Amino acid sequence: MNQLMKDHFLNRIDVESLVKEYGSPLYVYDEKTLRERIRELVNLLPYPWFSVSCSIKANSNLHLLGIVREEGMEADAMSPGEIYILEKAGFDASRIFYVGNNVSAEEMKFVLDRGILASVDSLSQLELLGRINPGGRVALRFNPGAGAGHHEKVVTAGSKTKFAIQEDLLEDARAIAGKYGLKVVGINQHIGSLYLDTKPFIDSVKALLRIASQFENLEFVDFGGGFGIPYRKLQGEERLDLKDLAGQLAPILMEFRENYGGDIRFKVEPGRYPFAESGAILGTVHAIKTSYGTKYIGTDIGFNVLMRPILYDSYHEIVAFRNNRLLDGQDDEKVTIVGNICESGDILAKDRPMPPLREGDIIGVLDAGSYGYSMASNYNLRLRPAEVLITLDGNARLIRRRDTFEDLLAGFRF
Ligand SMILES: Cc1ncc(COP(=O)(O)O)c(C=O)c1O
Repeated sequence: MNQLMKDHFLNRIDVESLVKEYGSPLYVYDEKTLRERIRELVNLLPYPWFSVSCSIKANSNLHLLGIVREEGMEADAMSPGEIYILEKAGFDASRIFYVGNNVSAEEMKFVLDRGILASVDSLSQLELLGRINPGGRVALRFNPGAGAGHHEKVVTAGSKTKFAIQEDLLEDARAIAGKYGLKVVGINQHIGSLYLDTKPFIDSVKALLRIASQFENLEFVDFGGGFGIPYRKLQGEERLDLKDLAGQLAPILMEFRENYGGDIRFKVEPGRYPFAESGAILGTVHAIKTSYGTKYIGTDIGFNVLMRPILYDSYHEIVAFRNNRLLDGQDDEKVTIVGNICESGDILAKDRPMPPLREGDIIGVLDAGSYGYSMASNYNLRLRPAEVLITLDGNARLIRRRDTFEDLLAGFRF
């Protein structure tokens, strides 16, 4: 068996009992992995002027966010709901940065009333913030001109994205800020998600610093997230080399600090990196059939549970268990693993080599801790799964119950 899989937390736990107790499908998180991944980020650059925020869109489970806070990360929010949950997880306003886009005046007031700093990503939003909060503080999200990412839908800089302010508009932004007496205290970017190569990120850091040097008295520059994880890890995909990234980043930032003066701080805001490998989904094989030459493995992991494959054609490693033992892929056959949603696109993995599966086998979808539950829905009126945390002492703790039929009625007025 692949060493990575031997060491994987799914291989240490009683998957059958968990599914029996909490239902199938089931999200399972490993506290040890989560803390390790967070620490890799928090220790990336050991300087008081460097900090790491967690972009909680990737995973907004209250209990996991408690761990994120405990480990010293700050946080980004992209909606009032995310702010609400961050507050419940114990983050105070000074540790939250609001990175909204196309927000209403009401939403902007919600953010400012809490004393949370907001970044704006268009001139019209800068005008709005100026009208609401003249003389206040603001950050500007710039588009450094080139994006990166695993799929066109997650490239968030360059010429084909709705996000951020083009560099050419810098003077217009400055003029609007001046008109309202706004103090531009930070600039930020996010070029896209899931790069395993450091080059696009480092290039974007240089580009954003070029923009930063055109502002005086900035308190911080935030380089965004996008740190990738190896989704094809069982095939030997390499990890993002954080040491190499830190080695390249440190001299660039130090030089900038020296030339810029003041006590400027730098931030990054990864979301996927801390959670993705800490989470997996367990599901059950309920049906097997061959249709027009394709063997389908029918499971309860539909795209309401994990949207990444249908949304981004994403790849997740999938393993299988029988009687609590990992099935080794010796007589692998190619199968298409599908969910239980009434849509043809409900495909978890196409033409995937898997050991011969039977009804009742449990499958484990790896690296599902980010953009998994946070994108889950009740589509087809399916109940969203429970979430369980394997704590440091190896016990399973229910951290969110499975939806109930009553939850489906919540909100209706009779
Ligand atoms: C502004 C911003 N920051 C950070 C992130 C986190 O990205 P990732 O999860 O790829 O690190 C995102 C994700 O889209 C984002 O839009």
